[in-house]
Amino acid sequence: MTLHISVFSGAGQLAAALTDDVAQRLRRAPTLVLGLPTGRTPLGFYRRLVHVSRAAGADFSHATTFNLDEFLGVGPGEPGSYRQYMERHFFRHINIDRRRIHFLDGAAADPRAECERYEAAIAAAGGLDLQVLGIGANGHIGFNEPAERLAARTHVVRLRPGTRQANAALFGGDVARVPRHALSMGMATILHARSIVLMATGGEKAACVSAMVDGPLTTRTPASFLQLHPDVHVMLDQAAARKLRTDHAGG
Ligand code: GLP
Repeated sequence: MTLHISVFSGAGQLAAALTDDVAQRLRRAPTLVLGLPTGRTPLGFYRRLVHVSRAAGADFSHATTFNLDEFLGVGPGEPGSYRQYMERHFFRHINIDRRRIHFLDGAAADPRAECERYEAAIAAAGGLDLQVLGIGANGHIGFNEPAERLAARTHVVRLRPGTRQANAALFGGDVARVPRHALSMGMATILHARSIVLMATGGEKAACVSAMVDGPLTTRTPASFLQLHPDVHVMLDQAAARKLRTDHAGG
């Protein structure tokens, strides 16, 4: 077992601990380069981080962000976009310099060129210092879906039906409106981050968390590749941790 695991009594405690961690990293390194996720899981974390930043406990004025993924064909101003999610829940509430917010443009005319542009932008920023991740119930990270082959770098992915269903809320609850494709950082893009924190809450994540932590490395569980990274902190609530083989430290 190579991953460092913390189990918290609830999602609120987990979000508070992650907020403290990020705020501390920002104080130590104001030019922090952060990789950021979307989804339901990080909402409590964003809410707390906004709160801490308003209380002058986290200064984003020199920080840089790169989001993990975006829906293909969905422009940054469209309500279902991950960009709008980030604006709503985080960016518009903090003092980040907007020129240092980086996002994949889902409406780019040439998606492949857009993926290359993104890789180059991450490299130009000096790489990701901390990548924050959620996990899909099928074991995906970013939008790297279970498959026979995984892509190393930022690429166009085809979304699985279950993943489209899980994202339907962003499109008025109508799964038919969820795009079939997305742009996502690749496995190497994520694994090259200097540090990684993955958070998972709720019983529906227990099986994929167990596969990620205790299972073999397999492209069928993309998150299992995190076992190769030397600095990964997996933050769980009790429900998400309940299928783990061993007991892990509380938080
Ligand atoms: C989405 C995102 C992932 C996210 C995952 C889990 O599809 N692309 O980055 O981690 O699904 O989402 P949730 O936190 O809502 O379970």
